[in-house]
Amino acid sequence: MKVDVLLGLQWGDEGKGKIVDVLTPDYDVIARFQGGPNAGHTLIFNGTKHVLHTIPSGVFHPDKQNVVGNGVVIDPVIFRKEIEALQARDVDPTANLCISKKAHLILPTHRLLDAASEHAKGKAKIGSTLKGIGPTYMDKTGRNGLRVGDLLSDQFAARYDALKQKHLGMLAAFGDDVPTPFSLEEAEAEWLDAVAFLKGLRLIDSEHFLNEALAAGKRILAEGAQGTMLDIDFGTYPFVTSSNTVTAGACTGLGIAPNRIGEVIGIFKAYCTRVGSGPFPTELDNAEGEALRQAGGEFGATTGRPRRTGWLDLPQLKYAAMINGATELAMMKSDVLSAFDTIQVCTHYLHDGERIDYLPFGINPDEVTPIYEEHPGWTEDLTEITEESELPQSLKDYTAMIERETGIPVSILSVGPDRKQTILRSGRK
Ligand code: GDP
Ligand code: IMO
Ligand code: MG
Repeated sequence: MKVDVLLGLQWGDEGKGKIVDVLTPDYDVIARFQGGPNAGHTLIFNGTKHVLHTIPSGVFHPDKQNVVGNGVVIDPVIFRKEIEALQARDVDPTANLCISKKAHLILPTHRLLDAASEHAKGKAKIGSTLKGIGPTYMDKTGRNGLRVGDLLSDQFAARYDALKQKHLGMLAAFGDDVPTPFSLEEAEAEWLDAVAFLKGLRLIDSEHFLNEALAAGKRILAEGAQGTMLDIDFGTYPFVTSSNTVTAGACTGLGIAPNRIGEVIGIFKAYCTRVGSGPFPTELDNAEGEALRQAGGEFGATTGRPRRTGWLDLPQLKYAAMINGATELAMMKSDVLSAFDTIQVCTHYLHDGERIDYLPFGINPDEVTPIYEEHPGWTEDLTEITEESELPQSLKDYTAMIERETGIPVSILSVGPDRKQTILRSGRK
């Protein structure tokens, strides 16, 4: 058996949570491979909306196993709140949830460092979610981090204290006007309490678990977080997150060998959004962009921040498909574009006086100017459509154009936020 991967091809928030939930019945195990509580994955079914941050989106199917992989960073406080919020809705994820002992822990002081670093950058800030993601991955690569498995050691308290002291020294170096978004003393008490809770969950050597599952013929879906343009290597650096969000990240984030990767399902919106700072060539910083934001409900699932909006960017999408080896595509939120009579699609960039159709090193406004092609829109309401044959011709043409440009089939079309508002197109197994 192989591991299929589902990940975002744009700047995150493509609808990964929804499609993982839709595809979960086809799998035995759902495994998150990177990121942490910076993610917000929304699932809607039976009239209820759930937002998951660290817990895999397969959790609503009680017969499936959910794994938080070694590539994930965990804030025990947020993790516990997520579990308790589910339990309050009569969903108990703990029975089928296991956590890699090699996953790293986000400390309260990592969050303070995130805030201090953003403050120090001023106008050049990343627009981080302030969940402590960057500082935690820095400690991981700097070989100072604390891992879930360390909770089981009698040295844990001493190691926690040593890392906290190191962080306090770093915070002092930021100077006097460093922000104090919360009381460290209170946050620490809550964190230590949550750590005790985390210790009571199923902590495993997830690389063994997953490879044994594969050997036993089990089907595994790896769930990505963020999106390709937020990848630490291939995104719009430095305005990125601190992990590999691409297919390769599923290998390192789960302990899956590259030759065990199967299908790669790349998700994208029929347009583009981005939250936080950084270049976004097709951004509509105008009334049309605002109309798109309102029509798409484009406000962050984790921070509530308004998302920046813009038209579909084909050079960007093709780049993401290439880096990930996408074998099929899921196009989300086609229903949102019903608000527009005509739709623009960026097919090329003007770069150094030349018309190019690939992503160059930099995509800042002074480096690329998007060149658009106009497409007729579909003003029909799509949200009740369940059959591919009922889709408006202009949407079929739009989808065919994307398949032609990327060379990859669009196997899933999403026409609304609910689990049921999903069309699996002919050809999808
Ligand atoms: P994720 O981070 O990739 O899981 O995506 P988010 O949950 O952050 O953002 C996607 C948003 O779009 C959520 O509010 C979803 O409920 C919503 N959504 C997903 N698919 C569709 C769709 O096809 N149409 C509409 N209108 N909303 C959708
Ligand atoms: P999901 O999984 C959209 C963005 C932040 C910021 C940058 C760095 O829901 O798609 P970080 O907190 O990681 O240091 O922030 O990355 N970002 C996301 N944007 N969706 C996400 O996750 C994101 N996770 C981080 O806004 O620009
Ligand atoms: Mg999200």
